[in-house]
Amino acid sequence: MIEMIKLSNGKKLMFLMASGMMGFDGRGPTRAHRIMYDLLKIAGLYDPALFTIITKTISPQPIKGPKKIKPLKNGWWNNYGLDNPGISAFLLRSVQEIRGSENIIISITAQNLAELQIIADKLNIVTPNLTAVELNVSCPNIKKYLDTNLIIDMCYYWKKISRLPLILKIGQKNNYIKIAIKTEKIIQAIDINSIPTVDQHGAGAISGERAQFINWRILRRLIDCVSIPVIGPSVWHYEDIEYLFKMGAGAISFGSVSMVHPKRLWGPILPTKWAKRYLRGG
Ligand SMILES: Cc1cc2nc3c(=O)[nH]c(=O)nc-3n(C[C@H](O)[C@H](O)[C@H](O)COP(=O)(O)O)c2cc1C
Repeated sequence: MIEMIKLSNGKKLMFLMASGMMGFDGRGPTRAHRIMYDLLKIAGLYDPALFTIITKTISPQPIKGPKKIKPLKNGWWNNYGLDNPGISAFLLRSVQEIRGSENIIISITAQNLAELQIIADKLNIVTPNLTAVELNVSCPNIKKYLDTNLIIDMCYYWKKISRLPLILKIGQKNNYIKIAIKTEKIIQAIDINSIPTVDQHGAGAISGERAQFINWRILRRLIDCVSIPVIGPSVWHYEDIEYLFKMGAGAISFGSVSMVHPKRLWGPILPTKWAKRYLRGG
């Protein structure tokens, strides 16, 4: 049996729904999705209890993003940006859902330590029992990436200001090996974002099977370099789960594969089916 990721608060991670897939409250990105997922739940086709759900990224202040997204043959292209209502409005709208859930990770982003402090203060008071916080330092659709040393400082600072376990979400453009080595004692897992690209749709990011080549190389390099558990991204077929666990991933994240895709309708049905199948032993 696979070793799951065990966090310092005793919570375990095996299968995750990636940030952006299940909206800000973990129930779905839009009202239509929420209704559909509730119906799938009743029909036994979607089982949120199988997953730890990572919410869409929240920043201290509201951000307006381009919110563009296009299906590809084997994944998604998106220039969604960090579109979000800001931490205060988020908590006002979603705190009941979040408090009532056993398996929620809140995804956050910040530009500096002061912004991180704003988020920590709110989360520490309102939702001290969360599974964890995921710090997204790798949104592919922003103009300027955070400095490597600032990212490392943010991780250490988080440890001082919050008891919530910290997962760091890196991406291809980060100096992720240096960051992972320097934060090995502070962060509890590493997650991997979509891949920045410029193609016929313009500047954006690719995910899903299209991202496997690069994301799995990042995963392998991290597994070779550090002992922090790394979450395996970009699953597109059932066999990918076994492959990533064998490679040494500590948990599996379902991202693009769980969105409603023209070739794969009904979002989280596949992850539910696959997680159940994997737990039954294939
Ligand atoms: C439409 C869309 C929105 C996303 N929003 C976020 C987000 O708010 N925060 C984040 O950290 N990642 C976000 N992601 C990235 C995913 O969480 C995931 O890391 C990425 O798609 C790579 O995994 P995949 O290849 O399995 O899809 C988003 C991805 C898509 C396609």
